Amino acid sequence: SRGCKLVGCGSAVPSLQISNDDLSKIVDTNDEWISVRTGIRNRRILSGKDSLTDLAAEAAKKALEMANVDPNDVDLVLLCTSTPEDLFGSAPQIPKALGCKNNPLAYDITAACSGFVLGLVSAASYVRGGGFKNVLVIGADALSRYVDWTDRGSCILFGDAAGAVLVQACDPEEDGLFAFDLHSDGDGQRHLNATMKENEKDGELGTNGSLLGLLPNGSSYSCIQMNGKEVFRFAVRVVPHSIELALEKAGLTGSNIDWLLLHQANQRIIDAVATRLKLPSERVISNLANYGNTSAASIPLALDEAVRSGKVQNGHTIATAGFGAGLTWGSAIIRW
Ligand code: ACO
Repeated sequence: SRGCKLVGCGSAVPSLQISNDDLSKIVDTNDEWISVRTGIRNRRILSGKDSLTDLAAEAAKKALEMANVDPNDVDLVLLCTSTPEDLFGSAPQIPKALGCKNNPLAYDITAACSGFVLGLVSAASYVRGGGFKNVLVIGADALSRYVDWTDRGSCILFGDAAGAVLVQACDPEEDGLFAFDLHSDGDGQRHLNATMKENEKDGELGTNGSLLGLLPNGSSYSCIQMNGKEVFRFAVRVVPHSIELALEKAGLTGSNIDWLLLHQANQRIIDAVATRLKLPSERVISNLANYGNTSAASIPLALDEAVRSGKVQNGHTIATAGFGAGLTWGSAIIRW
């Protein structure tokens, strides 16, 4: 049997920074309300022609450099994103940008804020069962493109970013991906979604009664719709339980966890989960004050900062969990 471990990480954020004060100029809000309710102070936003794919490739390049792995040795790229720049998937643009000459398999994984954890689990399966050796797992999202900038209840939360890790095959005794717990609840989708728009142009291709007149004519998506209170309740209910299940599968308890690294949605959610798991705040990683909720990017972005600042060190055990639209949620116990 084969093991798999994390051997590199990287991240990238857009240069445009938007503070709570900046937002108070476009919606009726203020720095105090946003800080107290969410812990968020700033976010980065992709603007104009900035490309999410470029940001994802930059994060991936840094992860490869840290791992000292040649782009041509990557055999799979999983791009976890709900905001691709091509409906058919943006992932193949990553090996292209990295200069991989070996045509590695590359595809998108769509699971909003849970995307990165699902990507990690998928990578582990490919390595363990499929003989893959070097898998790039990238979380990258630009939810700003789907935010309703007139809705103060949601527009204050989100930011854009990319983060990446390299998952590599190893001996079973070095294994660094211990256990997972993954779920979905389609019924909860009504609390958080960005669904396909009814298209007013449908049927405009032809005249009434003609075949062309019956056919669709392009399509697009609505802005993010969210019931914040329900999403908050959902997260605080399911995440501690999911982490407990994953810990149990790994044969570990809370006392074995060096770091709690949750999807960065809201500081109050992070604090509530840590309290439920009886983990002191010194063992909790948080950087959402600077970036807001960056969806699938938030976990690898926070991991990368914590690794590069020396907080997370080799051999540390991390409990991580993603949760969000779908609804989906999942946790993983990993070793750096
Ligand atoms: N500024 C000032 N006032 C505001 C703002 C704002 N930005 N937004 C809402 N308010 C007002 C409301 O209108 C309401 O006023 P009222 O009492 O007069 O009606 C009051 O503040 C309280 O609003 P609530 O919505 O009840 O505030 P709550 O404490 O629930 O906080 C929040 C809202 C921050 C959105 C919180 O519910 C939350 O963080 N939920 C989780 C959301 C989340 O994480 N979503 C992403 C999931 S991940 C993914 O997959 C995308």
